[in-house]
Amino acid sequence: MCGIIAALSYNDNISNNLISALERLEYRGYDSAGIAYLDNNSSLQRIRTVGKVQLLKETVERQQIKSHIGIGHTRWATHGTVTEFNAHPHTADGVAIVHNGIIENYQELKKGLVNEGYVFESETDTEVIAKLIASHIKSGKTFFEAFKQSVNELVGTFAITAIYEKEPHILLGAKKGSPMAVGISPDKQSGYIASDAVALSTLANELAYLEEGDIVVVKKEDQILYEIFESNGQKIRREIVPNKVSLNDVSKNGYESFMLKEIFEEATVARKTYERFNYNIDISKFNNISIIACGTSYYAGIVAKYWIEAIAKIHVDVEIASEFRYRNPVLTKNSLYIFISQSGETIDTLCAMRLVKEAGIKTLALVNVDTSSIAREADFTIKTEAGVEIGVASTKAFVAQMLSLLMLCCRNIDIEAIERSINAILNGDHDIAKLANKIKDCRSLFYIGRGVNYPIALEGALKIKELSYISAEGYPAGEIKHGPIAIIDENIYTMALAPYDKYFDKTISNAREILARNGKILLITTNDAKNFLHGIDKNENVECVFLPENNPLYLPFSLTTFIHLLAYYTAKAKGHDVDKPRNLAKSVTVE
Ligand code: G6P
Repeated sequence: MCGIIAALSYNDNISNNLISALERLEYRGYDSAGIAYLDNNSSLQRIRTVGKVQLLKETVERQQIKSHIGIGHTRWATHGTVTEFNAHPHTADGVAIVHNGIIENYQELKKGLVNEGYVFESETDTEVIAKLIASHIKSGKTFFEAFKQSVNELVGTFAITAIYEKEPHILLGAKKGSPMAVGISPDKQSGYIASDAVALSTLANELAYLEEGDIVVVKKEDQILYEIFESNGQKIRREIVPNKVSLNDVSKNGYESFMLKEIFEEATVARKTYERFNYNIDISKFNNISIIACGTSYYAGIVAKYWIEAIAKIHVDVEIASEFRYRNPVLTKNSLYIFISQSGETIDTLCAMRLVKEAGIKTLALVNVDTSSIAREADFTIKTEAGVEIGVASTKAFVAQMLSLLMLCCRNIDIEAIERSINAILNGDHDIAKLANKIKDCRSLFYIGRGVNYPIALEGALKIKELSYISAEGYPAGEIKHGPIAIIDENIYTMALAPYDKYFDKTISNAREILARNGKILLITTNDAKNFLHGIDKNENVECVFLPENNPLYLPFSLTTFIHLLAYYTAKAKGHDVDKPRNLAKSVTVE
């Protein structure tokens, strides 16, 4: 949620780097964007636009800015509507700041600042930070001291960077709850603070990640350097790690969107996850496994519940992190707690994990970004091998998560069969675009499935909702008659996930119940079911898609690739931006 970047350089073309970093950070939010910088007279300037970074880029390019220090922001709105006056950076008396997170005590702080005579121009929680720093500078403090004191007064979560026109040679940053990295360019001519490694992929080869409560100062001396201070004021060295994000990772490589590129990587991701999986976690030691996650990662957890209970015979609970963390869960020492997150920054998953750690119980994280907060704080980490995922809706990471979870309970996997079946969807002759055209104007949709196909139905419905803005529900096929069937009429499409597995006949019966109410069915099944369809394929309200047959254990993989492509083509048919669906952000660092 919200991407931040700050840059200090000997060169005066800093605006180009701010904009290119914001373009890469856009997956964190794209309601508005803005930069603030000091011009050649060291006077603070600000440009903000509503909408995607492209608009800001065009505005900035027209102005031919010369500046050696600046900050930038791409916003996912929390407090205040999507308008220019709510867009970051926020300023006060020559101070400019950008913020990712939520300041919980902003009303209280604002009252004090209003009494001091500050006039607020936005509805945001963030503007108080700029005014607070300015107020402390007015009382005689240096920029650094004023920043430090302000940070101590803030309650909530934040990653903040700031500049001040009277101290044009330093950038300041603070982290609590939201991620922040610092890096220097290889020629030591520029220094950067940013939300993540992706932002700095072409700018810094090595990074240090700030820990909770850290403050960082990037400054210009003989060269550009930085110093990090712990919350107690002590200078500290944080480990420097290579920035592994390459230009290739952040390019579309000829695909028309990141989402399509990432779906087309699903077979490779499955292979890599298989080959690199070298974790020896003996799950049979545990009486119970609890899996906690959000969004698509949560659905990977449900898929794993079906597998682990069937194969390893261990009871598995799967829970949404935002519920788990607030419901006073009963934690048991002989349980294995697994936290799944692509980004490794989802605040609810992170806080749920901290709750378990605080109870003295070891935690296992399954994350795609190994430098993320969840990866760094977990006792044990399994890295999923999806590579950088940029499309806001998670796709290939889901495949990596499922395979890693399968490998926790079963090592004897025929990876070729999985790869082959995914590739058969990617390179097959299923006219998915044509199917998408049929469903794109539906008022609402259902995805149904039984057994392990049920969480895939949930994932299918989520993807349709996220990208096409069609109301879609994933349901256990057997449950549809307990209410949802009331919605069925000739305008509703139901995607029935019915591969030829042990649930096939039952799901087909449920599909017939829907047909009896004039509903339309897209039957997603497998070639080996052809002799057992008993005429359902001949019904005028039924469209059949035959996927390659496979060991039932591996069917979730090819079904996933199919539903991802169907969601992609449906959104495309509606003319939507598949990489940046409205109202969403990829990395959800607020509650
Ligand atoms: C957001 C994304 C989803 C993702 C979810 C959980 O809502 O849009 O695609 O599944 O966050 O994210 P995580 O990084 O924890 O897997």
